[in-house]
Amino acid sequence: MGNNSIQVNLCSTGKEKPESDQLQFGRVFTDHMFIMDYSQPEGWHDARIVPYQPLTIDPSSMVFHYGQTVFEGLKAYLSPEGDAQLFRPEKNLERLNRSNDRLCIPPIDEDFALEAIKRLVALEKEWIPDSEGTSLYIRPFIISTEPYLGVAPSQQYKFIVILSPVGAYYKEGINPVKIAVENNFVRTVTGGTGEAKTGGNYAASLKAQELVANSGYAQVLWLDGIERKYIEEVGSMNVFFKINGEVVTPALNGSILEGVTRNSVIQLLKHWNIPIIERKVSMEEVYQAYKDGLLEEAFGAGTAAVISPIGQLTWKLEHLFINNGKTGEIAKKLYDTLTEIQYGKQEDPFGWIE
Ligand code: COI
Repeated sequence: MGNNSIQVNLCSTGKEKPESDQLQFGRVFTDHMFIMDYSQPEGWHDARIVPYQPLTIDPSSMVFHYGQTVFEGLKAYLSPEGDAQLFRPEKNLERLNRSNDRLCIPPIDEDFALEAIKRLVALEKEWIPDSEGTSLYIRPFIISTEPYLGVAPSQQYKFIVILSPVGAYYKEGINPVKIAVENNFVRTVTGGTGEAKTGGNYAASLKAQELVANSGYAQVLWLDGIERKYIEEVGSMNVFFKINGEVVTPALNGSILEGVTRNSVIQLLKHWNIPIIERKVSMEEVYQAYKDGLLEEAFGAGTAAVISPIGQLTWKLEHLFINNGKTGEIAKKLYDTLTEIQYGKQEDPFGWIE
């Protein structure tokens, strides 16, 4: 499928755009969306850009019952020259296909999907906000639409891309957040769906988040589902700790999502000759490092928030105040470097921008 096979049907009048300094995360959507269908024997077909609109799908569509769905999240940034730039979009599309594989959803053509995203973003360029820290969030997703209640892979799907001008994901921005270590609930287990970006993982995380939010915590720190010992993720982000001059992050184990920001953080740290090790990290180890005065920083990394420092970690009624509750040096440097590359304000030595 090539460029020309995307039908374009424009809306007659665009919506009013929000003030870019008033933006929240994911509440406002642009004028158009991309959509294509899957059925057999055609495969993926009928690619089109159409006015943003509600979907009409059967109530028996399989996605409503068994959650066979995947999604991605990436952003378009406005460069100082006024160009739309994407950050490592091919990584998201590769991951989308890995998620598809796990959820028994037929693969998409990654090059074609990237072309579709670029065309949609180009069409909606006026929607890319220009205030500091804002961007156009891109949400590609696939839903299973076959009207059937049997538990089996759907024979029909829709691949949709919607766009949302966004501000900071956490109201705290780059300021440190309070995190509670989760001892009861688990996000997923190795062999489950943790490394796939699928709605069920996020649905399963809500209860823990809701319970700690009442005590002022932004998110939970997830431990592994088997031994309840090893750290996996923080909220919906990957997590890093700086212990005694060395940065550690949980090694990918089948239940941790392979974040694009995680991968970029690792590359940047290596580039700066800062020791970075991917391995199992237990909560006991982090606690001991804190007690010994060796826990220097902790932060989450993800597309939505970029870098989110952890100022307080609460574990079994003990409060660990990390770096005196302030943003650490490495977290700040990573945030500044990643965002400057993303916004085209700094050279891109890794070829991350498209
Ligand atoms: C991220 O980009 O960090 C996320 O995964 C959050 C997203 C689900 C809103």
